[in-house]
Amino acid sequence: MKDEVMYSTREIQELVKSSFESELLLIGNKKPAGLYQPICYALQNGGKRIRPTLVLLACNLFTDNIRKAFPIALATEIFHNFTLLHDDIMDKATVRRNKPTVHVKYNENTAILSGDAMNILAYEYLSRSDNETLPQLLELFNKTALEVCEGQQLDMDFESEPLVSIDDYINMIRLKTAVLLACSLKSGALAACAPEEDTELLYQFGINIGLAFQLQDDLLDTFGDKKVFGKNIGGDILCNKKTYLLLQALNVSEGRKKKELLDWISRKEYIPQEKIESVTSIYNDLNIKHITEEKIDAYHRQAINDLNRVRVPEFRKEQLFNLTSEMMRRNH
Ligand code: IPE
Ligand code: IPE
Ligand code: MG
Ligand code: MG
Ligand code: MG
Repeated sequence: MKDEVMYSTREIQELVKSSFESELLLIGNKKPAGLYQPICYALQNGGKRIRPTLVLLACNLFTDNIRKAFPIALATEIFHNFTLLHDDIMDKATVRRNKPTVHVKYNENTAILSGDAMNILAYEYLSRSDNETLPQLLELFNKTALEVCEGQQLDMDFESEPLVSIDDYINMIRLKTAVLLACSLKSGALAACAPEEDTELLYQFGINIGLAFQLQDDLLDTFGDKKVFGKNIGGDILCNKKTYLLLQALNVSEGRKKKELLDWISRKEYIPQEKIESVTSIYNDLNIKHITEEKIDAYHRQAINDLNRVRVPEFRKEQLFNLTSEMMRRNH
């Protein structure tokens, strides 16, 4: 590892990759295999690793010695993957990262228990942080973890609620998704002992990119390419998820179109593919993709404002600015 030099995002991603590889060797040797193998399955070659990358990039804004933030990077990614194991049960999702989800490959009880163990492992990694920063990190992690649960509960509650406002939706995705991205950034900055004002700005930056990130996830769930996105397309439509797409479609539609949409939501029996195609075609007629992209851009602009105000030299922010721009228009 380099000392006293700024890292590029690619270098940080490589560091994240290799530290996961070595940790996975240790986890994979633990017994009983029935508990730890599914954890390795979930974590191996898994996903974009956005959260640990954000941890290390945030730390690197303030210091060239990013080693201190490694336990946090591992903790956030393991915690994120834990939430996915349980989320896939709750959302009846059968495919993730182009592979069967854990509850499908193994079974639901395994996904619950291996998920629980991942949550504990995340805290174990976190506790390897420096003693001076640990109390603050723990406070932030505990708050974040509870908020994610709150967001996930609201997400489920909304499935059966007919009227959900855009404000309620934004609050729900702030909790289920944005706070973990915000926590990643803030905790990376805390590891670097950054000034409080800057750690708060990074938290707010994380909330804004997190909101945009979940909006893009909602978009891809309907308009993505299954092979690239790695998840089944249309899952949100089948679950009657109150996504930004559906709520805006209900807002801007009227007359026959609105009736048709409400009818699909309330129908108890249907052919899944037919429901997905019909609702998607209503979204197309109403220009919902464009409306959602505008909202993503608005949150991205707010995020840029937040990062602009962080008091470190501009050149140090370049990697973070570039990564977030890529995230806003991701296709997987
Ligand atoms: C998926 O997160 C869950 C959401 C919050 C949308 P990611 O899109 O970061 O998933 P991976 O880890 O890259 O697969
Ligand atoms: C995920 O939201 C949020 C959490 C896992 C906490 P989604 O349910 O939209 O995520 P995906 O689409 O399954 O990855
Ligand atoms: Mg979900
Ligand atoms: Mg899901
Ligand atoms: Mg989704």
